[in-house]
Amino acid sequence: MTTTNPNDEWEHRRQELRLKTPPEQTHRLFHLLHPKQFNRSFLDQMCELTTDIRTLAKSPAGLASLQRLLHHRRAMLYFTQPSTRTFLSFNNACHILGMRTSEIRDSSTSSEVKGETMEDSIRTFSSYVDVIVMRNWQKGLAEKAAALMDTISRPIPIINAGSGKDQHPTQALLDIYTLERSLAHRGGIDGKVIGMMGDLARGRTVRSLAYLMKNYRDVHLVFISPSSFAIGDDIVAHLDEHHIRHTSTTKLNQVLGDLDAIYLTRIQAEHDVADESKDIDLDQFSIRKQHLTRMKEDAVIMHPLPRGSELSPEIDNDPRAKYWRQERNGMWMRAAVLTRIFGAEPTLYELAK
Ligand code: ASP
Ligand code: CP
Repeated sequence: MTTTNPNDEWEHRRQELRLKTPPEQTHRLFHLLHPKQFNRSFLDQMCELTTDIRTLAKSPAGLASLQRLLHHRRAMLYFTQPSTRTFLSFNNACHILGMRTSEIRDSSTSSEVKGETMEDSIRTFSSYVDVIVMRNWQKGLAEKAAALMDTISRPIPIINAGSGKDQHPTQALLDIYTLERSLAHRGGIDGKVIGMMGDLARGRTVRSLAYLMKNYRDVHLVFISPSSFAIGDDIVAHLDEHHIRHTSTTKLNQVLGDLDAIYLTRIQAEHDVADESKDIDLDQFSIRKQHLTRMKEDAVIMHPLPRGSELSPEIDNDPRAKYWRQERNGMWMRAAVLTRIFGAEPTLYELAK
C-alpha cells in the first residue's frame, strides 16, 4: 500500500499554485444568505479554493501563511440556536485564517434579555467586528440583518449559518464539495441519481442542497420521506422551473439500488407543534448494515449530523460512509467562504509562493 506524504502533496500543490495567476474570481461575495446566490462557476471556484486551503494547511509553512491571511479581521459568532459543528467549524476556520472571534450563544446572556432588539444587537456587533455569522430559529432573520447593514455607514457581511426550517446555505456548499469529491472518479455530480431521505419538510439542509442542484446537468433527485414530511412545494416549484428531474416515494427499498448518493436527515422533532414526529415509523427511513448489500458498491452516504436512529453507527466504517469527512470539509469550505468574502484570494496565492 502506498501512503502519501503530506509534505510531498503540499510541494506538488505548491508547484500548481505557482502557476496560478491567481484563479479567476468572477463572483464577489458580501452577504451569504441563500443558496440562490450561487451559480456553477461560483461553486466550482469555491470547491477549488477549499482544496487549496486544505492542502496548504497540511504543512507547517502553509498553515503559517494561512494564519497571516486575515489576522487583521474579527468575526462575531451569533448562534442563538444550538449548534456543534457549524459553530466549531466556523470558529476554527476563523482561527486557521488568523481571525479573532467573539460569540453569543444564548440571548439570555446578552442585552436582548433587557429588551434590546435584534436590529440593535446586530448593529452593535458591527461596531466591533468585520463579519457576523448567525444561526437562529427564524426564517429570514439573516436577510433582515443584511438589509439593516445596507443602511448603515459601516456595513459588514452577514453569513447565514442556519435559519429556522428554511435554509442552511454554507452546509449546502460543504455538501456540494463532499459530493463532488466523493463522485469525482465518476465525473462528479452531473448525471447522478441522488436520494434525499427523512424529514424533508423541515430539514433545512436538504432544502438548501436541493436548491443547488439546478447548477448540475441531468441530475435526478429521489425524495424518500413519510408523506407527512414530504419536500416543500416551494422546492418542487423551483425544481420544475429549472427542469430538474425529481420523484418522490415512501419506499426506500424500491429505489435504494439506483442511488449514486443518499443524503439522510434526522426527524426535526424540535419543530413539532403536536408531537407529529411520534407517528413516524423511522425504521422505514433509516440506513442499517443490512441495507449496504443492496446499495451500489461506490454509492455515497451523507448526513449533515447530528444523527438520530436513522443512521446506524454500524455503517460508520463502511467506505461509502462520508459523513465524518463531510463534517471536516465544513471547516475548510467555511475558511474558503471567509477568504472569498474578504477578497483575500490574491494574497493567499501570493503567500503560497
Ligand atoms: N445540523 C443540521 C442543521 O442544523 C441538521 C440537523 O440539525 O438535523 O440543520
Ligand atoms: N450540520 C450542522 O449544521 O450541525 P450543527 O447543527 O451541529 O451545527
